[in-house]
Amino acid sequence: MEKSEIEKRILYLRKLIHEANYEYYVLDNPTLTDQEFDKYLRELEILEEENPEFDSPLSPTKRVGGEVIDRFKKVRHKIPMLSLPDVFSLDEIESFNDRIIKDNVQPTYVCEYKIDGLSVSLHYEKGNLIFAATRGDGVVGEDITHNVRTIKSVPLTLKKPVDIEVRGEIFMSKKVLMDINEKRKEKNLPMLQNVRNAAAGSIRQLDSKIAAERKLDTWIYHLPNPEDYGLETHADALQFMKSLGFKVNEKANRVVTGIVEIEEYIKEATEKRRDLPYEIDGIVIKVNHLSSQKTLGFTSKYPKWAVAYKFPAEEVLTRLTDIVFTVGRTGRITPNAILEPVIVMGSTVKRATLHNEDYVRMKDLKVGDIISLRKAGDVIPEVVERKLERRDGSEKEFIMIKNCPICGSVLEKKKDQVDHYCMNKACLARKVESLIHYCSRKAMNIEGLGDEIVEDFFNLGFIKTIVDIYFLKEHKKDLIELEGYGAKSVDNLLLAIEDSKLNSVERLLFGLGIEGIGDKTALLLAKIFKNINGFLNASYDDFQNIRDIGPTLAENLYTFFHTIDNIRLIEELKDLGINMNYLGEPEKHHDLISNRRFVLTGTLSFIDRDELSAIIESYGGMTSSSVSKKTDVVIVGEKPGSKYEKAKELHIEIWNEDKIRSIVDML
Ligand code: IVH
Repeated sequence: MEKSEIEKRILYLRKLIHEANYEYYVLDNPTLTDQEFDKYLRELEILEEENPEFDSPLSPTKRVGGEVIDRFKKVRHKIPMLSLPDVFSLDEIESFNDRIIKDNVQPTYVCEYKIDGLSVSLHYEKGNLIFAATRGDGVVGEDITHNVRTIKSVPLTLKKPVDIEVRGEIFMSKKVLMDINEKRKEKNLPMLQNVRNAAAGSIRQLDSKIAAERKLDTWIYHLPNPEDYGLETHADALQFMKSLGFKVNEKANRVVTGIVEIEEYIKEATEKRRDLPYEIDGIVIKVNHLSSQKTLGFTSKYPKWAVAYKFPAEEVLTRLTDIVFTVGRTGRITPNAILEPVIVMGSTVKRATLHNEDYVRMKDLKVGDIISLRKAGDVIPEVVERKLERRDGSEKEFIMIKNCPICGSVLEKKKDQVDHYCMNKACLARKVESLIHYCSRKAMNIEGLGDEIVEDFFNLGFIKTIVDIYFLKEHKKDLIELEGYGAKSVDNLLLAIEDSKLNSVERLLFGLGIEGIGDKTALLLAKIFKNINGFLNASYDDFQNIRDIGPTLAENLYTFFHTIDNIRLIEELKDLGINMNYLGEPEKHHDLISNRRFVLTGTLSFIDRDELSAIIESYGGMTSSSVSKKTDVVIVGEKPGSKYEKAKELHIEIWNEDKIRSIVDML
C-alpha cells in the first residue's frame, strides 16, 4: 500500500472505531459485534506500529493504556472549579428557591443526579482532546490526561471541531467495584472501600494501564463558558454537549418548575437509586436560565445558582436470622448478626458485628427480629435498631454463651471489661486466627495467604504454626494438586513467602500478635529498639518508659519476650532467614505537604487529628499547635477555634475538610 493509502486507511479505521466506541459506551447501543470491533482495532494497531509517522495520541488504540508519567503536572483552571453547597432537607431547598424567585416569577431548574465520583475538566481544541485535569483545590488541579484517555466514554475527537472545556464526573460503576474487590479478596489485598475512592485512586495512578483496567466511566454535566456558544439555558448546554459526543445523563436530567416538582424528582430518584448501575449520593438543582445564573453569580466557594441535596445515609430493613460467635486471635469472643442478605449502598450485606454481649442487650436484639441496617461511613454495616412493632412473639431471646464455641473451655470476662475471652492458648480458633493475622496485609503481608486459604491450609494440616509457613515449599507437589491451584499460583505463593522474609521487623512484631500491640505501636517500638534483640533484652521499665506505652502494654511486652515458647519461635524464625531489624521507612513525599508547616483546628469527621498529623509528618510536612507567620497551611474542621480567625488575619492558606480529605485519599 502507498503511504497515502495507509494514512487514509488509518484515518478511516480511527473514525470507525471512535464511532463504534461512541455507540457502545455513550449511547449504550452497539452497532458492531465484538469480533468486528476487535478485528478493526487490531488492523489499526498493526498499521500504526508499522507506520509510526502516523501515530497520534488521539488514536483509539491509546485507550488501552500503557503511558506512564513520572509525576502529575499542576494545571491552573482558568475558571475555578467550584463545588456546591450541600442541603439536607426540603426546607433548605425551599429557602434556596425563595432566594432565587424574583418578581414572583417561578424560575425553571434542571434537576440532575449527583454522581458519586470525582470531577474532571476536559479541554478540546478543534475538537481534539488536549488535556484533562482534576479539580484539585478548585484553582489548581492535576493533569490526568494519560488516564482519562483510557476512559471509553470520553471522546478523543468531538463531532464538531470546536474549542471547548466541559466538566463532569468520573465514576466507577457498582458492578466494576464488586468485580475488582472479588479479585482483590482472592489476592489478600485490601478492599476498595467505595466507588468514589476507587475512582479517585485509579485516576491517581502514574501508569495508565491501571486506570484502563479499572473501566472508569463519565457523566458530563457542566459547560463553564456557555455564552461562547450562544446558548440560553443549562438544558440547552446539556443538549449541546451531548451533540458533540459527550455522555450526558439525559434519562436522569429533568427541567422542573417549583418546589413540588423538585420534591417529586427527589422522591423518584430516591426510589430508583438502588437499581442504578452507578452510585449517586444526592441530586443537584441548577437554575436553568444562564442569564439568571449570571446575575446570581458566585460566592468564593460556590455558585449561588445551584445546590446539592444529599440523601440521608441509606437504611434498609432485614431479618436477623441468627447470632453466631467468633473467636479472635486473642481469644476475644464476638457475637455476629447473621442477616437475610440485603443490598445496602451497592453491596450485599449478610453479617454485621454486634461487638459484645452488652451491645446486644443494649439494642435489645432477639433472633428473628426485623432490624434496620445502616452502612456507616460507606463501609461497615451497622445494626441500627430492632423494629419492635414487627415482633410476633416467635423471636428468640439472645443467650450469651458460657463456653468457647470451638474448644469448649469456659469463657472469662476480665474485671470492668465488656468482652469475654477464651483463655485456652491451644484453642484451634485462636490458632487459625493468629496465623491469619500473621499473614495479613499490615503484618507479614504474604500475598496469596488470605483468610480462607490459611484456614484451608490449617485444616489440611499444611500450616499448624507460624514456622510451618516457611516449610510450605516442601509440600509444593501436594499444593499443586489442590483444587483451584496450579504450578504458577503455587510458585507465586512460595515467592511471596520468601519475599516476606525481608520485611522490616515491625511487621513481624505486629504479626506475632502481642496483646494490645497494633501496627502503629509496633512501628514505634521498632524505631526505638531497632532489632529483635532490643526487645529480648529490654526490662519492664525500658518498655514502660516509652511514651504511649502504659503499664499493661509494658507488662504484655515483657511477658511475651520472656516466655520460653516465644523466645524459641523467634530463634527459629531467625534461623529461617526472617529479617529481625528495623529497616527504616521509605522516604515519602507529597508536593502539597512536604516542607510545609501545618496547624490543625476544629474537628475532622473522617480522621483523627493525631492520625492526620502523623500522615503529614510521614510525607515530610511539619505540624505545630499555634498559628504564626511561619505557618503555611491551616486545616480547618468543624467548629474551628481562634486559630481559624488568626489564619484569616494573616492570610494563611486555609484547607477545609474536603481538601485535606481528597489529598489523604490519594496518598
Ligand atoms: S455541578 C459549578 N452537577 O458534586 C457547578 N456537580 O459537591 C459544578 N457532582 O464538585 C458542579 N454530580 O464533583 C454538578 N450533576 C452534577 C454533579 C456534580 C456530581 C459533584 C462534582 C462537584 C460536587 C459538588
